[in-house]
Amino acid sequence: MKKIKVSICTGTACYVMGASELLLLEEKLPTDLKDKVEIEGVMCLGKCKNASNGKSPFVLVDKELVSDATIETVIEKIYEKLAK
Ligand code: FES
Repeated sequence: MKKIKVSICTGTACYVMGASELLLLEEKLPTDLKDKVEIEGVMCLGKCKNASNGKSPFVLVDKELVSDATIETVIEKIYEKLAK
């Protein structure tokens, strides 16, 4: 089965805005998501350079950008992707 790829930006701007907490996502995933998601930390996605992208921290969920990301909003987006 295809997994949803979650790329958490760990560049400085995102890190100080909360990406460090986002890296706990793996532990916080609901059990039903555990084998459906692949989580990775990535270098600056370049999104912090342009205010029109919204606020840090940034996460890509299956290539879709989530700005001002929290564990909750990322999990929501994963469910949204799985429902498609
Ligand atoms: S540090 Fe995250 S997009 Fe630049």
